Amino acid sequence: MPPTTMTEKSASLTWTRKHLLGLQELSAAEITQILDQAAEFKRLAAAGETKLKALSGTVVANLFFEPSTRTRTSFSLAAKRLSADTVDFTASGSSVSKGETFVDTARNIEAMGVDLVVVRHSSSGAPHLLAKHLRAGVVNAGDGTHEHPTQGLLDIFTIREHRGDLSGLTVTLVGDILHSRVARSNIWGLKKLGARVIVCGPSTLIPSHVTELGVEVSNSLDEVLSETDVINLLRIQFERQRSAYFPSIREYAHFFGMNGDRIRKAKKDVLILAPGPINRGVELTPEVADGKHSVILDQVTNGLLVRMSVLYLLRQRQLAMGDAP
Ligand code: CP
Repeated sequence: MPPTTMTEKSASLTWTRKHLLGLQELSAAEITQILDQAAEFKRLAAAGETKLKALSGTVVANLFFEPSTRTRTSFSLAAKRLSADTVDFTASGSSVSKGETFVDTARNIEAMGVDLVVVRHSSSGAPHLLAKHLRAGVVNAGDGTHEHPTQGLLDIFTIREHRGDLSGLTVTLVGDILHSRVARSNIWGLKKLGARVIVCGPSTLIPSHVTELGVEVSNSLDEVLSETDVINLLRIQFERQRSAYFPSIREYAHFFGMNGDRIRKAKKDVLILAPGPINRGVELTPEVADGKHSVILDQVTNGLLVRMSVLYLLRQRQLAMGDAP
């Protein structure tokens, strides 16, 4: 019998990690625990319980040193849905421009009584650095080209919601695998839950040792379409590219863009995911982005629930261990 209230659910928790830095270090059981807790929040929301008291008295700081729409907004709303107080910091307009360091910035904000810090930064490993210097729990909201664990979790949650068990499913990640932290978090999470993962893109955008992560490589989207259950269309990360990785956007879209012709050649029930922001006409056409196979806005909805789950589990552990700042 599934738990029916937050109190009963809390009693069954055994979350042990202080921080959420990546999916690489999580077990399948830990990933499933986050997803199950998110599903519980979804069930409560459907029953009209959209404002919960679980994080009352908790302060969550969102520290964003890179732009964001979905992640920053949904972490902020997730904290509010759980009755936490929130501090939303963006580097632009802050004292970072006067030379204050990343760690000093975070320590000063933590000194205002912050319990959980959500951080996005262009440097891979930035959340790990904060985890060494702060007493607060740290959540990685995207670090350089390394990981974006809550994006991976919300992608997997969305697939699980539509398809159930991931084992036996083939998921193809298309595009800029080289620079994509979303790709890495998806690969770690999907492989741990038993999915087959194909990475597909121009050879210049596929990391040389990626098969060591247990994935298959394809340089032809057309060749893998018929065997793919889920296609996740990754954004070309122009801001992280230091040279030209393909001749033109038009050529990229021709070979790797998802369009109406390719949807018609894919499995009849193929799911189309994209982490956003999407570039209409590049990674996918409007016909695909807004079509019946697209679950792109479901991903956004589920992102709120997954982030509620992460904040809730980390805070429960803090309170249980007595190591809240
Ligand atoms: N998918 C994602 O991380 O979107 P934002 O950059 O808008 O947060």
